[in-house]
Amino acid sequence: MTKKITIAIDGYAACGKSTLAKALAQALNYTFIDSGAMYRAVAFYCLEKQFVDNQGVIQKKQLEKFLSEIEIEMTPDQRIFLNKQDITDAIRTPRVANVVSQVATIKSVRSKLVELQHAMGKNGGIVMDGRDIGTVVFPDAELKIFVTASTEVRTARRLAELNATGAHVAANEVTKNLLERDYLDSTRLESPLKQAANAIVLDTTYLSREEQLQWALERVRLLITN
Ligand code: DC
Repeated sequence: MTKKITIAIDGYAACGKSTLAKALAQALNYTFIDSGAMYRAVAFYCLEKQFVDNQGVIQKKQLEKFLSEIEIEMTPDQRIFLNKQDITDAIRTPRVANVVSQVATIKSVRSKLVELQHAMGKNGGIVMDGRDIGTVVFPDAELKIFVTASTEVRTARRLAELNATGAHVAANEVTKNLLERDYLDSTRLESPLKQAANAIVLDTTYLSREEQLQWALERVRLLITN
């Protein structure tokens, strides 16, 4: 496999996008970028700076004033730094999950992050996952995958991830957050989550990680050898 392509993976929250993207990048020796982590970094910044009112609403004007001060760096070993601070674990908390979709509706935030994403993917050989990768960030990506899974399976997967970090959250709270985020992500004005016309759907409900990876590798093989 010599030709290096661009692979865009989109879908609803907790469908297994990042897990698949990471495994695929590793198998192909490509760069993996979790674009959701970048939106989470900005959400974390808002919480740290207290740009959130007591109703949990992000103070957009304040954030926009400081946007140019936000520096995000992602390392090949999947760590994410915000202004040199390692926030890899801190962005996975329910506190961040509760406000991140609001942050992702802000046009100026999206422009800043999309610019970074373009720079990261300019040479191809990249697997990026998110909500608007196949539609907005890399509309010319050679392979676009739209991942889905049942709400039950998504809740169980997100719960397992949270438990692994030591956070204990009730299953119904996790489901509520996932559905709220899906609603905000797919109804916002700026780059809403939607399936790109030429994306292939992958339903991961009944597939193991290995089966998902093999399915995707087969798609890549077909593209590269044709
Ligand atoms: O993939 P995730 O759950 O870590 O994403 C966090 C939030 O960021 C999600 O609610 C939607 C938003 N997001 C986005 O709007 N565009 C992307 N490309 C990636 C994530």
